[in-house]
Amino acid sequence: MSKQEVKGNLLSPLPVALVGALVDGRPNYLVIGYISPFNFGRHIFFSLFKKRYTRIGIHENMTFSVNIPSESILEQTKICGSKSGRDVDKSKLFETFYGELKTAPMIKECPINMECEVTEILDYDPNEGIIGRVVGSYADSECLDEDKLDMRKVHPFVWATGGDFNYYSLGSRLE
Ligand SMILES: Cc1cc2nc3c(=O)[nH]c(=O)nc-3n(C[C@H](O)[C@H](O)[C@H](O)COP(=O)(O)O)c2cc1C
Repeated sequence: MSKQEVKGNLLSPLPVALVGALVDGRPNYLVIGYISPFNFGRHIFFSLFKKRYTRIGIHENMTFSVNIPSESILEQTKICGSKSGRDVDKSKLFETFYGELKTAPMIKECPINMECEVTEILDYDPNEGIIGRVVGSYADSECLDEDKLDMRKVHPFVWATGGDFNYYSLGSRLE
């Protein structure tokens, strides 16, 4: 088998997440693809383009939420990844709930939710690296098997980088 050099970052596929923040008192959600847990999962890191409307709320409150959508809300997710809160009221797409942090709006229709407080912001102009501590995690009870998440019940989807910018569904469990 031959190898060919390919341009770009090929760390792929990546989870699709909806990051939420309160902007001027209104929940706003955007798709974040460049996102990862780190520090043994105690923190979350993601890349935020400085022009995003959601950024205003993250800086204002120093909190955000991470919501994992299921395939059933693919259409609403696509709107969150293509329309800005500057032009569209994305709070109307979902039912919002709050946890311990009262400024990190979470999406009821997403089976997995986390609320985070910002611990550090890295300047990588024109992007920022946002680091948040996970303050609370929530899951739909129907997706749990004896208090543990069963991904076969979550139906998350992933997206591909490196040229193939498409969404894919999760395959079957291997082990
Ligand atoms: C698959 C996918 C991944 C994305 N990943 C990021 C990302 O990592 N960082 C970012 O700032 N924007 C990302 N975006 C773009 C934002 O979701 C999009 O511009 C959104 O409309 C911004 O909304 P806002 O202006 O209301 O914050 C992504 C979009 C898609 C479709």
